[in-house]
Amino acid sequence: MSKLVIVFFSGYGHTRKIAEAAAADTDALLVEIDANGDLNDEQWQQLHAARGIIFAAPTYMGNVPWQFKKFADATSALWAKRAWQDKVFGGFTNSASFNGDKQVTLIWMQTLAAQHGGIWVSLGLLPANTKQADRNDINTLGGSIGALIQTPADASVDEIPHGDIETVKIYVARISEIINKLD
Ligand SMILES: Cc1cc2nc3c(=O)[nH]c(=O)nc-3n(C[C@H](O)[C@H](O)[C@H](O)COP(=O)(O)O)c2cc1C
Repeated sequence: MSKLVIVFFSGYGHTRKIAEAAAADTDALLVEIDANGDLNDEQWQQLHAARGIIFAAPTYMGNVPWQFKKFADATSALWAKRAWQDKVFGGFTNSASFNGDKQVTLIWMQTLAAQHGGIWVSLGLLPANTKQADRNDINTLGGSIGALIQTPADASVDEIPHGDIETVKIYVARISEIINKLD
């Protein structure tokens, strides 16, 4: 069982591509919420066994897609049993606009982690916000709660800005390192 799981939903493949890139550089396991908002028993078991859980979803209409919310609501039985108490959590979200209300999604993910009694890991990176900054730089969207990715609405899954993917990779590695320090 992997210590770190990225549980994600992706309607059109962009968030999946980002999660795959992040998982490739760490030992994180990917758990994909299906189009009906469901996980199978094995996937629930993988979440249960993980030391850390990273929430990942695109921002749709200013928050997570309904499939991710269905997953979150399905964790309420675990919430009641404090089953995820003291797990380590993080989150990232991807959307078409530079802002696009992604912060709402991240704060909601952080709230979900807090409801479970989790330990939330911040992004821990300075923003790249000078005149020289471009979209190959780290954290050009200036996140701090978690990682932000902006994929232009007409971009394929192979055209996600490089710097944003690198930002997610660094963040996932940070969460992995923190888990190792805690244990
Ligand atoms: C139903 C729907 C709602 C969306 N709402 C937003 C939004 O609120 N803000 C934004 O910036 N982009 C929004 N988008 C754009 C998606 O976030 C963007 O295309 C993202 O890359 C999709 O990721 P995915 O391929 O993993 O589904 C929306 C897209 C859809 C389909």
